[in-house]
Amino acid sequence: MEASRRDLVGIAIGGLGAVGVIGVLYPIVKTLAPSAASLAGAVVEVDINSIPEGQVRVVSWKGKPVFVIKLPQGFQWSGKVREGNNSKLLQGQSVFTMIAVCTHLGCVPLWKPQGEAEYNYPVFHCPCHGGFYSPWGDIIAGPPPRPLYLPPQKVEGGKLIIGEAGFIKELT
Ligand code: FES
Repeated sequence: MEASRRDLVGIAIGGLGAVGVIGVLYPIVKTLAPSAASLAGAVVEVDINSIPEGQVRVVSWKGKPVFVIKLPQGFQWSGKVREGNNSKLLQGQSVFTMIAVCTHLGCVPLWKPQGEAEYNYPVFHCPCHGGFYSPWGDIIAGPPPRPLYLPPQKVEGGKLIIGEAGFIKELT
């Protein structure tokens, strides 16, 4: 009789403990879980008119920084790339976006509209290990193994829409 009462008390305490653990863990697990938007493929809209020509804005898409680039009218670029197809994929687009994460070890490159080091034309420079990218994210020099990634994107109604298929249909 005494033993079964002890059992009951033990079960009750164990149950309360389990509720407490779940109560503590639930908010943590909820925080770590990807948001519904990121699972569904987040869409971010950027007002093109709010970006001055020749400048780059950094916004967040699916938890990653992305560059939104607005090239000046009639932009000419005199550099040479070592590798990459981005400029062909983005041909004719004066506003576009690229994932702002260096494909070498993940630093965020810097936009240098006046050029940098021996490159006297606009480049993205990744100072971590000396990576250089063209304004379209193709590789000029350094250790990056591939061009910057391009998210799906389109232009509609004065907005760049990141995350919807358009002139780039899927992550490339
Ligand atoms: S992380 Fe960019 S060059 Fe190494």
